[in-house]
Amino acid sequence: MIMMDKVVKRYNELIALDHFSFEAAEGEIIGLLGPNGCGKTTAINCMLSLLAFDSGDIEIFGEKVHPNNNSVKRRIGLVPQELSIFDKLNVYENIDFYCGLYVSDKTKRRRLVEEAIEFVGMDRYRKFIPKKLSGGLKRRLNIACGMAHQPDLLFMDEPTVAVDAQSRNFILEGIRQMKARGKTIVYTTHYLEEAENLCDRMVIMDAGRNIAHGTVEQLQNQISTQERVEVGVITDESDIESQLEALPNAVSVNRKNDNYMIHFEKQENNISNLIKFIESKDLTYTELSSEKATLSDIFLELTGKELRD
Ligand SMILES: Nc1ncnc2c1ncn2[C@@H]1O[C@H](COP(=O)(O)OP(=O)(O)OP(=O)(O)O)[C@@H](O)[C@H]1O
Ligand SMILES: [Mg+2]
Repeated sequence: MIMMDKVVKRYNELIALDHFSFEAAEGEIIGLLGPNGCGKTTAINCMLSLLAFDSGDIEIFGEKVHPNNNSVKRRIGLVPQELSIFDKLNVYENIDFYCGLYVSDKTKRRRLVEEAIEFVGMDRYRKFIPKKLSGGLKRRLNIACGMAHQPDLLFMDEPTVAVDAQSRNFILEGIRQMKARGKTIVYTTHYLEEAENLCDRMVIMDAGRNIAHGTVEQLQNQISTQERVEVGVITDESDIESQLEALPNAVSVNRKNDNYMIHFEKQENNISNLIKFIESKDLTYTELSSEKATLSDIFLELTGKELRD
């Protein structure tokens, strides 16, 4: 559905996309994740041919993208990161305007606009102008404007920023429904848990490059941390950290007050080894929890940066 091959995009000295490659298959939700400024929006804008690039190739639906390829553009939607709604138009009119760029038949358009209003749960607000909407409702309107024409391929650039948990769940459920109808969705977000639950595959970007891609499981296998154990121990011993680090499979230990976060490179008897160690020192633990490596661990290990929710 999308094939982006070694695309380079420069802004003078700055390389915003550095031989960036990206693929999306029909019917999948693919997450594009990376820290601020890594090039996510630039990549989307190149795919949409809103931005010219220096070298590389991009094909969508098997055709090369260029600004005047309207048959391809009609099948694509964009929910942009920056709100793109008209102050003077009410909710209905805003959605109708964007839908009208693709659909001229009035009866069909009315149905699509109604479906979009329902999709974002804004029936009560249909006559409101944007000034009267909260920040989260404006974002919901922005989403409705981008997807009202029901494109086969939808780009959503940070659609849930500043949206409350309830609205976010509503939106995420809607996205799952779109997928169920065979739509393909490219999704950028800083909410890693959201990406983990929603996306079939992810591409992790850093400094304009695709540094890793795959399912969460495939990404987990690309890093050394496989299990993270947090343990609370009260002790006067000053070298407890290095003793924990000496446990089988342990790769690193970080201390937070009386709690220690231990990263293990394999999921293999780590908890029981830890308990044996604590008992052998005649200590007690106040809490103990274990987690498989999450997207934030993957992120931290691959980029050296935290990508916080
Ligand atoms: N029009 C422009 N002129 C010059 N530099 C730009 C322009 N647009 C983006 N950049 C730079 O290109 C890089 C990539 O920006 P981009 O907006 O694609 O990042 P992003 O991953 O979408 O970030 P965010 O998470 O903050 O949305 C950044 O260093 C940014 O400063
Ligand atoms: Mg961006």
